[in-house]
Amino acid sequence: MSSLENLLSRVLPENKKFELLHLQSPPKESHSVFVQQRSDCTQTVVKVQHFFGLGADEKIFYSLELFVYLTIESSKAIEKLIFVSKADTNGYCDEKISVKDITTAILDYIVTLDPSHYLSKEIKVSGTSPGCGPSITRCTTTKRALKILKARHDSKKGDNCPNRGFFRNIEGKDPDWTCKICLFTRSEPQYLFSESSRNPKKHILSGEQLLRWWLSVIDKILVRHFDSGTKATLQIPGEEESRTLRYLSNNKAPFWRVGDIFSGKSSELAIFAIPVFPDDPKGRFLEQVVEENRAKKVRLSDFWVELQVQQEFRLGCTVSVIGVDGRIPKKCFGPHNNEVIVMPSKKVFSIVKSYIVGEQYDTSEGAYEAYANLRDFLHLRMQRSLLEIRGCRKSSEPGSKGTGSDRNAPVRPLNTLTVRRKVKKSI
Ligand code: ACO
Repeated sequence: MSSLENLLSRVLPENKKFELLHLQSPPKESHSVFVQQRSDCTQTVVKVQHFFGLGADEKIFYSLELFVYLTIESSKAIEKLIFVSKADTNGYCDEKISVKDITTAILDYIVTLDPSHYLSKEIKVSGTSPGCGPSITRCTTTKRALKILKARHDSKKGDNCPNRGFFRNIEGKDPDWTCKICLFTRSEPQYLFSESSRNPKKHILSGEQLLRWWLSVIDKILVRHFDSGTKATLQIPGEEESRTLRYLSNNKAPFWRVGDIFSGKSSELAIFAIPVFPDDPKGRFLEQVVEENRAKKVRLSDFWVELQVQQEFRLGCTVSVIGVDGRIPKKCFGPHNNEVIVMPSKKVFSIVKSYIVGEQYDTSEGAYEAYANLRDFLHLRMQRSLLEIRGCRKSSEPGSKGTGSDRNAPVRPLNTLTVRRKVKKSI
């Protein structure tokens, strides 16, 4: 596996210096992304968040947030599910870059990251988590929930669940795990860079352009890494199958089809077949279904039809759900030195992330501040630094934006006098 530095260096312009923040939250036992009919005592789900921020000329200009859910059985990862949550830019990059290629490079890295990397340290299994016994869901009555909690408490004493306790990576085993990718595409003026839509230089793809953009990213990942038994799906709520198929016609990987990777039969109850991710609009609709007491009525086929009527899905903007389910035949490796900062706790992870997402980007000041605060925090509090990456893509190479007329605007000089440095946040 190439290092993250190499992967990014290949898509960044020659001789320009970039700096990368790559944060990882500490792996933690989590609920399954599905509401389970019966919980599987032999499996445990571990959730990890990754957050990337890319900067140049002392400004952060790009961010990507994603989650990895590892399913573990007998101390071994059997599934790595990557939920790509949000990609965003703020328009303050003075270089000619391809955000699509940057995003593809990061996904190249995440997809081929050995799952046992997440298990290389001991993971504390929470006593109240649903590793064993039935899960507590919104459908569970209070009386039943109390019974489940008591059973969990009792089972902690005479612990007979094979996955309870600590995990250790089993080194030297052949990779035998499936890799899933899920994402929901919906264009918004801004996601991670507040007020950045007020920067006239920010480029925002429309819903349809964004869908094609993500299809092209995922298609490249499929061609590069996945084996021939892979399933890749596109679902556009409310769109006819023949129209959805048109979006797939230019894709290079042969496994694309209309649908989703999770559904079993269309007669299956949606509540058990649709995964729920953080800040996920289809998850919000599932919650609504439960609140309306329709959890045991809404079948998968009804779910997609009803979803299109939801406000988040019907504002005239094309939204879609993209999925991949397959295997990666190549041997995967752990991260290279210095390319990931694994945070000691979720709290510190959120503090460092907030240096980027907590700024306002209506002017370039936010981009300068985010960079300066990150650099100083990492240096002073963690004795770490942003990863320096020198681009090596020649302007004549395909994918280079060397000739794009809209991107040839003169680089604005850095006026350091206008940059206000914030008082450092402390842990
Ligand atoms: N003027 C004209 N065209 C431009 C400009 C510009 N200023 N900047 C880029 N382009 C063109 C590129 O040349 C390229 O064209 P091509 O496809 O013909 O080669 C195309 O736009 C895409 O350019 P990229 O550099 O790959 O991407 P972009 O800069 O548009 O960034 C992004 C993509 C991050 C989605 C951006 O549009 C954005 O920040 N959108 C707002 C937030 C958002 O909706 N995020 C997606 C959420 S969904 C999810 O993340 C799962």
